[in-house]
Amino acid sequence: MLDRDEIIRLLDGYKKEDIRIGMIASHSALDVCDGAVEEGFFTVAVCEGGRDEPYTRYFKAFRDKRGKAYRGMVDQTLVLDKFGEVMSDRVQQFLRSENVVFVPNRSFSSYCDLGDIEDKFSVPLYGSRNLLRTEERGEKRNYYWLLEKAGIPFPEEVEDPDDIDGLVMVKLPHKVKRLERGFFTAATAKEFREKSEELIKQDVISRKDLKAARIEKYVIGPVFNFDFFYSPLAGHEEGIELLGIDWRFETSLDGHVRLPASQQLTLNEKQKNPVYIVIGHNAATLRESSLNKIFPIAEKFVKATQEHYPPGIIGPFTLQTCVGADEEFCVFDVAPRIGGGTNVHMWVGHPYGNSLWRSTMSTGRRVAREIRRGIDDNRLDELVT
Ligand SMILES: Nc1ncnc2c1ncn2[C@@H]1O[C@H](COP(=O)(O)OP(=O)(O)O)[C@@H](O)[C@H]1O
Ligand SMILES: [Mg+2]
Repeated sequence: MLDRDEIIRLLDGYKKEDIRIGMIASHSALDVCDGAVEEGFFTVAVCEGGRDEPYTRYFKAFRDKRGKAYRGMVDQTLVLDKFGEVMSDRVQQFLRSENVVFVPNRSFSSYCDLGDIEDKFSVPLYGSRNLLRTEERGEKRNYYWLLEKAGIPFPEEVEDPDDIDGLVMVKLPHKVKRLERGFFTAATAKEFREKSEELIKQDVISRKDLKAARIEKYVIGPVFNFDFFYSPLAGHEEGIELLGIDWRFETSLDGHVRLPASQQLTLNEKQKNPVYIVIGHNAATLRESSLNKIFPIAEKFVKATQEHYPPGIIGPFTLQTCVGADEEFCVFDVAPRIGGGTNVHMWVGHPYGNSLWRSTMSTGRRVAREIRRGIDDNRLDELVT
C-alpha cells in the first residue's frame, strides 16, 4: 500500500487554487464531473478509445470568457487505448501536473489491477484506497467479513449446494464477459444442479467459477441502494449523510418480470434464465418509519471500516440492500466508493440530499463540495489516501 504520507507530500506540491477533479470516464463519471463543475472545479476524464464519445463530444464542457460552464461538464479528456494505461508513469505524471485529485469508481477498480492501485498509483485518491479490495468476493477480508465484524445483517451463506432448502442466489462471474455476472437462482439442490449444468453448456458460467461461487439465501423483496456519504470534516453536524436511494434496471431480469407467468414458462432454454446485468437506475424513497433502521447500519459500517481498514470510509459509499417480508434490511453488497447508480441524482440532486443541504445535492456535487471544504480549511490531507 502506498504510504499515505507520501500521497500527502504529493498533495502539498499541488497548486491549491488549481486543483482539478479526475476520474475514469465510465460508471459515475458524469455525476462526478457535473458536481465538480457546480462547485467551481475543472474536470479531467480518463477515457478509453472507442467508448469516449459521451465525454469527448456529447458532454464536453464549454466555458465563457469568465470560465463559467454554459454547456456540459467534461473539461479535459485523455483518451487511452485501454483504461489500464492510467497506471503508466506518463499518465500519472500528467495527472499530477494537472493537480488532479482522482475520484475512484468501479471502472477504475475493475479495469485496473487492484495491486497496482494500492502500490503504484501515485496520485492523490479521494477516499480510502485500501477499502477498494473489499468488494472482491474472493478476498478473505471482503465486505461480508466487514459486515460480520460490524454486526450488520447480510444474506446467509449456504456452504454446500446439497443444503439448499429455499431460494438462493448463486453469485459467480460470467464465463466470457468476466466483468459481468453469471448469477442464477435455485430453490432446491436438484434445481441448482440442473441449472448450473445448463449454464455451463451455454458457456455462461464455468465449472471452476461455480466451485468458488457464493451461494446465499435469496431475499424476496425490493432492492434499495442507499447512497451514503461520510465526512471526516464534520464538526457539529452528523458525519453520516443519506444523499439518495436508487434501484436498478437489470437485463434480462426486468424483461422477464414483465411477462405473464404462462409466457415465462414457454421461453426456450437460452432465454429461460435471466441474467443480472445492471443497465440503468431509478430513484426511490423509503417509507419514513424505516429510515430509522438504516442509519444505525451506516453508523456501524463506518465504524467497522475505521477499526479494520483505517482511516476508514471517506466520502461516498453505497449499501445495497434487499428488504424481505420481515421488513429488515439485508446488505447484499457494499460499494466502498461512489455507487453505480448516482447518475439518478445528477444535477437535480435527490430528495434526501437536497433537503439536507437546502440546495440540489447529488453525490457528485457532495464529493466536490467536500474537496472544496478540504482546500478552504486546509484539511485536504484528511480526505485523500
Ligand atoms: N441475496 C440476494 N437476494 C436477492 N437478490 C439479490 C441478492 N444478492 C443480489 N441480489 C440481486 O442481484 C443484483 C446484483 O447483486 P450484487 O451482489 O450487487 O452483484 P455485484 O457485486 O455484481 O454488483 C442485485 O441488484 C439484486 O437485484
Ligand atoms: Mg452490486
